[in-house]
Amino acid sequence: MKIAFVGKGGSGKTTLSSLFIRHLAANEAPVIAVDADINQHLGAALGLGEDEAAALPAMGAHLPLIKEYLRGSNPRITSADRMIKTTPPGRGSRLLRVTEDNPVYDACARTVLLDGEPVRLMATGPFTEADLGVACYHSKVGAVELCLNHLVDGPDEYVVVDMTAGSDSFASGMFTRFDVTFLVAEPTRKGIGVYRQYKEYARDFGVSLKVVGNKVQGPEDIEFLQDEVGEDLLVTVGHSDWVRAMEKGRPAAFELLEATNRLALQSLQDAADDSYAHRDWERYTEQMVGFHLKNAQSWGNAKTGTDLADQVDPGFVLREESAADRAPGEAAQGDAPVSPPHLPLRPAPQPA
Ligand SMILES: Nc1ncnc2c1ncn2[C@@H]1O[C@H](COP(=O)(O)OP(=O)(O)O)[C@@H](O)[C@H]1O
Ligand SMILES: [Mg+2]
Repeated sequence: MKIAFVGKGGSGKTTLSSLFIRHLAANEAPVIAVDADINQHLGAALGLGEDEAAALPAMGAHLPLIKEYLRGSNPRITSADRMIKTTPPGRGSRLLRVTEDNPVYDACARTVLLDGEPVRLMATGPFTEADLGVACYHSKVGAVELCLNHLVDGPDEYVVVDMTAGSDSFASGMFTRFDVTFLVAEPTRKGIGVYRQYKEYARDFGVSLKVVGNKVQGPEDIEFLQDEVGEDLLVTVGHSDWVRAMEKGRPAAFELLEATNRLALQSLQDAADDSYAHRDWERYTEQMVGFHLKNAQSWGNAKTGTDLADQVDPGFVLREESAADRAPGEAAQGDAPVSPPHLPLRPAPQPA
């Protein structure tokens, strides 16, 4: 499943993403962690040293490779240059899976060990001043959007994206790519303000939005959040000494995280699992097509000099079966017969 952490800068998105990723890794779940925040701190929060974090490959810099790989032999996408961040997969496209090896992960992902458990980490790359104008910023986050739209994820596989809650993610459709979006909010008017704005965009697209209260100091903080966000409040997290120790560069083993915070992380996992169980792959595909047509009209057609609506394959639905019975990377061709039961690529769950 695909999970986003969004919220105001400083609210604790990166901290809670990293704790959630550690929690999943401790449960031996396959995880891809993606840092798509303007401030690239996820690597550090997962324990990388400054040099290691700085050496992470930037997805934004590998956009041509990503496009070339994903387009595969899709006849509707005649060249990588004509692929924009919203170009949807179709028959012939290559799809990504969480646990496989492929050229995109080779170029863009690094394995991080969390208490011995491997997690794949990908990062958009640092944003510069110039990126905060429109085009380049989009291309960095666009690399993530392309990957999400080509990623066939199973029920026990997790893709966790730490991202900026900016208007850019609304323009592109990125915000609709997740089974659940955790909005991290401090119990303040500003924190709630970001929630209201997100809710507004999310409403029309059936986005499942859950608020995670952070840096909560007592019952009054919890009451405030309950009053302001009602049933969207999933759980609250207080100050964590474990997090503070990690910030000091003295991380303790994850199993020493405070029990209340471990429970909070489990409720995030439960909420994510529950959302995935309700995923509608057809709607998921329709939405990516909808945003593609919108982006094609507003700038893509002009930029590429073609009608990008032609890239839409009306007979294609992104779903688990579309990747089940063929060589790694190939999407279904024609109306292939219904495939035999999907053999999981991930290792079988280990007993605790
Ligand atoms: N629950 C928490 N307990 C202790 N410190 C926290 C907690 N949540 C966040 N922090 C601290 O607050 C600061 C901002 O958090 P961060 O995750 O970087 O925010 P964001 O990614 O939303 O900008 C960091 O120094 C982080 O360690
Ligand atoms: Mg951050």
